[in-house]
Amino acid sequence: MSSLLKTHDPSEMNGLDFDVEKIRQDFPILHQKVGSKPLIYLDNAATSQKPQCVIDAVEKYYREDNANIHRGVHMLSERATDYYEGARKKIQAFLHAKHAHEILFVRGTTEAINLVAQSFGRTNLKAGDEILITHMEHHSNIVPWQLVCEQTGAVLKVAPINDRGELILEEFRKLLSEKTRLVSVVHISNSLGTINPVKEIIAMAHNQNIPVMLDGAQATPHVPIDVLELDCDFYAFSGHKLFGPTGIGVLYGKEKFLDAMPPYQGGGDMIRTVTLEGSTYNQLPYKFEAGTPNISGAIGLGAAIDYLYQINFSLATRHEEELLHYAQDKLAAINGLRMIGEAANKISVCSFVIEGIHPHDLGTILDQEGVAIRTGHHCTMPLMKRFGVPATARASMAFYNTLQEIDSLAAALRKAQEVFA
Ligand code: ALA
Repeated sequence: MSSLLKTHDPSEMNGLDFDVEKIRQDFPILHQKVGSKPLIYLDNAATSQKPQCVIDAVEKYYREDNANIHRGVHMLSERATDYYEGARKKIQAFLHAKHAHEILFVRGTTEAINLVAQSFGRTNLKAGDEILITHMEHHSNIVPWQLVCEQTGAVLKVAPINDRGELILEEFRKLLSEKTRLVSVVHISNSLGTINPVKEIIAMAHNQNIPVMLDGAQATPHVPIDVLELDCDFYAFSGHKLFGPTGIGVLYGKEKFLDAMPPYQGGGDMIRTVTLEGSTYNQLPYKFEAGTPNISGAIGLGAAIDYLYQINFSLATRHEEELLHYAQDKLAAINGLRMIGEAANKISVCSFVIEGIHPHDLGTILDQEGVAIRTGHHCTMPLMKRFGVPATARASMAFYNTLQEIDSLAAALRKAQEVFA
């Protein structure tokens, strides 16, 4: 089943069409109005919408299967445990990880990075050591490292980007040194859409025996992921951006690292034995899953992954590429519009500013036209500073968006310009 997700060769897709109108029927939320206008949802980088099968899986779990896992001997508990562990196996296949126990359930990408910072970072960092990130990171891949640097005396280094919003690989290479203990890089930028050359980054770092963590929050909904082929040491993503529920996410880590890392939180499933004098800890993955986990979230995320196999993810990503190129052309034709993020290799995210209109005002006017975009700094304040803007407007597309919706976006932007003329 994983081969479907890895197919990017157009010759393997001959004769197959991506029927976006049919796909849209799977997403009940899309069929509503904002005032008198049809909803046009272009805020998928913030969170994506859920197909009916995900909603059904969560509902069925609570209606028929709800029980605590790994604890009871009764039927419901065994069933809930099977579904939860089944979801872990689906994610293992989706990421092409070697072992299911390398898949840890967490709340989301943010918690995954904090886990690595506090468990791996606090154990391995001392004063003067370095962590290397890039200038296009989300706050979630900056602040956890700043916290652990404060705790250990380590130093955060930042690789620069160019004016198109691409990492300058040569500068990145120069920043790798015998002091670097970890590289943590966003796979795809949430604000720019830039796809980073992660294979090269990992190869450069591994050449110096430096482990690499990837923030995959924006990558998993748009490109196939193969952690073995990438050879990354940690990979984090969030369920809610991958058409699954909120409050569930994944940290993949290579067994050798996870085994050596101390627990991140104490309590519940992470325990083997407890005495008042001290405790011993459970095996992977439970060592990192303290307390009752988000069982319904994991099951919903498993259902979202099943859905991606079912629709043919390769065709979906090809449709997204068409949406991106169409949007780039439409936006380029708008006077006074400046694109922020023009990487040669990017996904269907368009960040921009329009002369004379604050992004928040743009967002409000677009909402009146039924068009939902995100405006603000997108949790990337250092990146906004790099481009000399306080905020951008960002339209981010998923495979259920249409070319007509891009036309509506462009028309709404022109309307905003008329209002502010
Ligand atoms: N990080 C999410 C975004 O880019 C919330 O909108």
